[in-house]
Amino acid sequence: MRRLLPDPAETTPAEQVAVLDLVAAALDARPYVITNFALTLDGSATIRGRSGPIGSSADTAMLVALRTTVDAVMIGAGTMRAEHYGRVVGDPAKRQRRERLGLPHDPLMVIVSGSLDLPWDAPLFTAGGGRVLIATASESDPPPTATSVRVVRHPGRVDLAALLEHLRRERGVRALLCEGGPTLHGQLIEAGLVDELFVTHAPKLAGGAGPGLVVGLSAGERGLELAWLLDEPRTGELFARYRVAHPR
Ligand SMILES: NC(=O)c1ccc[n+]([C@@H]2O[C@H](COP(=O)([O-])OP(=O)(O)OC[C@H]3O[C@@H](n4cnc5c(N)ncnc54)[C@H](OP(=O)(O)O)[C@@H]3O)[C@@H](O)[C@H]2O)c1
Repeated sequence: MRRLLPDPAETTPAEQVAVLDLVAAALDARPYVITNFALTLDGSATIRGRSGPIGSSADTAMLVALRTTVDAVMIGAGTMRAEHYGRVVGDPAKRQRRERLGLPHDPLMVIVSGSLDLPWDAPLFTAGGGRVLIATASESDPPPTATSVRVVRHPGRVDLAALLEHLRRERGVRALLCEGGPTLHGQLIEAGLVDELFVTHAPKLAGGAGPGLVVGLSAGERGLELAWLLDEPRTGELFARYRVAHPR
């Protein structure tokens, strides 16, 4: 992998991410929030309903490196239903690295769901390891098999600003990685709750009517600053890191 901007050099996802100090950027009222997406050239976040076919092993390496730098990982229920997550940091050596960095052994896994209609047979819920917090508007309960799950209730729908404040103040979350999907991402950006976007641009076309980077975001220009641009010559992927220009 090569760094094209700001200062050209050979690099790796781990080296790039090693210089980030995301937890130090925590705000008083919420964690520092970064998001990660893989997109096709036609802007799709899915190929036949899944994100997996978009990126290569280099994209996975970037995602895993980002997971190693945050206190919590957040996804929406649609992503959980499509991707059936397991433990987010599966490699014991990477969990040890997290601890050396002063991070909890496993990131807190946060799932946002209106319905609590989740794939309870997914390894995240059945295989143990890691803590899961579900923010939901539903009054039903997880099945008894989901032993590592805690639930916070929000009437009507999940108030994402209130959820992030809860994570910051009650759970000590300083930096959070949102891995989507597009519906959750659109709401976070709409509410001004995203600080940086990490986007893999894959040289592929998806066609179809899959969602893009955001769903439901109101029309309007929102400025982004390109913080780095990397490429992977083997696959033709571009890895961009954008900072959000928050209004002052
Ligand atoms: N390319 C990529 O990098 C990438 C990344 C992530 C996902 N994806 C793909 O995106 C697709 C899923 O898209 P999506 O937009 O449906 O995913 P999503 O944003 O993960 O999930 C949407 C669901 O999240 C819940 N939700 C979101 N905001 C909420 C709120 N404020 N209050 C209560 N519930 C809320 C709702 O769950 P309920 O339905 O339970 O009410 C909603 O239906 C999948 O195909 C996945 O593979 C791609």
